[in-house]
Amino acid sequence: MKKLVIENVKKYYDKKVILKNINISISENECIGIMGESGSGKSTLAKLIIGLESFDEGNITFNGISYKNITKKQIAEIHRKIQLIFQNAFNSVNPRYTVEEVLTEPLKIHYKKQISYEEMKNRAEKLLEKVGLDPKFMSQKAIQLSGGQLQRVCIARALILEPEIIIFDESVSGLDPIIQDKILELLASLRESLNLTYIFISHDFETCYYLCDKLIILEKGEIAETIENLDLPIKVKNEKVKKILGRNFETI
Ligand SMILES: Nc1ncnc2c1ncn2[C@@H]1O[C@H](COP(=O)(O)OP(=O)(O)OP(=O)(O)O)[C@@H](O)[C@H]1O
Ligand SMILES: [Mg+2]
Repeated sequence: MKKLVIENVKKYYDKKVILKNINISISENECIGIMGESGSGKSTLAKLIIGLESFDEGNITFNGISYKNITKKQIAEIHRKIQLIFQNAFNSVNPRYTVEEVLTEPLKIHYKKQISYEEMKNRAEKLLEKVGLDPKFMSQKAIQLSGGQLQRVCIARALILEPEIIIFDESVSGLDPIIQDKILELLASLRESLNLTYIFISHDFETCYYLCDKLIILEKGEIAETIENLDLPIKVKNEKVKKILGRNFETI
């Protein structure tokens, strides 16, 4: 069974078509890249997948759960099992929180009193280690961290709910190239060790090429091209796609 299936999805904002004819299916442990110009609908698609925004036509199913006629319990499950990580880590955490507070917050929200404080702290510490940060960071305030360190904390925060899919919306874009490479290595190794499925939104072909199995190119809300296997020689349909990829691939 496919992990995530997006079928003929259409989305309007104020009568304007933002996404249409979107068909994507993702298997367990697969990593699919999404590229496209600014405004092509990448983040909107991410919001539909995590159930933050509704769509107008078509359907999405996650682990066989249809987003149509969904129950509250199923919504909670989707919110736990599909995590979204944004570009700017500084905008997505409360700067006054300590790393421990950032990491334990999702557990407090999703599990309320089912997990003891000690257990939450334990899990947070283990995850810090997993993302390559020393446990001493637990007591530091988010604002004291570098961009790369904070993005690692955001990755740990996403992992604490034991998700199955992680969507990265330009998550490494703002970081300097060396830090970016280290985070990409971390993402590749986490995918293997935790059997994660990734949706990787990026403006950079190189990072998609490194991390992803296949690549979808959006243009004005539609899929302009799907590169099914990034390991095979790449041929694209038209000049516009080449421009989005920033590479002079052969045209079909
Ligand atoms: N809440 C909203 N209300 C109305 N229009 C919106 C809303 N959110 C996004 N849009 C519009 O939808 C289109 C797609 O936006 P989206 O943010 O998905 O693009 P994107 O591909 O993520 O762009 P970027 O690369 O700049 O992040 C844009 O035209 C945008 O103005
Ligand atoms: Mg975006």
